[in-house]
Amino acid sequence: MSTPTTTPVTVLGLGRMGAALAAALVRAGHPTTVWNRTPGKAAALAADGATVASTAARAVAASPLVIVCLSDYDAVRAALAGADVDGRVLVNLSSGTSEGAREAAVWAGELGAVYLDGAILTVPAAIGDPSAQILFSGPAEAYAAHEAVFGALGTPVHLGADHGLASVHDVALLGLMWSMLNGFLHGAALARAAGVPAADFAAIAERGVGTVASWFAGYAGQVDERSYPDDDASLNTHLAAMDHLVHETGALGLDAGIPRHIKDLADRAVAAGHGGEGYAVLAELLFRS
Ligand SMILES: NC(=O)c1ccc[n+]([C@@H]2O[C@H](COP(=O)([O-])OP(=O)(O)OC[C@H]3O[C@@H](n4cnc5c(N)ncnc54)[C@H](OP(=O)(O)O)[C@@H]3O)[C@@H](O)[C@H]2O)c1
Repeated sequence: MSTPTTTPVTVLGLGRMGAALAAALVRAGHPTTVWNRTPGKAAALAADGATVASTAARAVAASPLVIVCLSDYDAVRAALAGADVDGRVLVNLSSGTSEGAREAAVWAGELGAVYLDGAILTVPAAIGDPSAQILFSGPAEAYAAHEAVFGALGTPVHLGADHGLASVHDVALLGLMWSMLNGFLHGAALARAAGVPAADFAAIAERGVGTVASWFAGYAGQVDERSYPDDDASLNTHLAAMDHLVHETGALGLDAGIPRHIKDLADRAVAAGHGGEGYAVLAELLFRS
């Protein structure tokens, strides 16, 4: 029977997320070296078997694979100043933009490192669980060489060689998350103002969100084709229902900012002659602005 392969790995940054990443790597049996700018955050990891380095440079020297998870990309450059990353695979799981990721790839390349950018689509408590999606972008060979290590953190997904791809998906998903949460909170406030416990609304909302998510693939095809057939309901039909949302919100004395924003986009699309098309035609306004 073959034994699972382990890889020495260094984790720089033991904030909420970095500590969770390091703990998952230790649990998976990878020899793990950790470092944090402010000392004192590694006690639990050390007790579980991690090696604590006194400087980032020493931590980097300990492993061929270096995972960095700090507040932002400036912090990554600051932490690695003076460390010799030449010949190492540097994986940056800090959040950022695609532009920042591409610049970081050039910077890391000049230092001799092979750079992978990444984005974590979950919370620290879920790290190590297969439900935790972690996106990677950068050279396929470097990703493939360490995919098993990344698998200890959740479900890794390699998006392609362009270093910016993980961040593009990350910000797009964050936008989706915030839009959903704002819509939910508006609905919860509406329910509460109408005398219904928000908890009752949440149970119904959860099923409703599943239905809406099932439309994504079809709408994505329409956006790719830039063709928006009126398969189920026209934008005109949606707009009439949006009036009800605005009215109900006003009648209950709630802030109308979110419904107004929703209706404004549809109003503009109808004014531009798209009322008879499907809902996804709103994407045309987003392309334009
Ligand atoms: N927490 C989440 O749910 C979550 C989810 C997805 C993605 N992320 C991303 O993961 C990254 C880390 O988040 P976090 O939740 O772990 O944040 P955090 O708990 O605030 O930790 C921030 C880490 O960055 C370090 N740091 C900041 N500036 C530094 C500098 N100039 N030099 C060296 N180290 C520096 C901090 O070190 P000190 O201890 O010395 O301050 C700490 O280790 C962020 O980019 C975040 O967007 C987080």
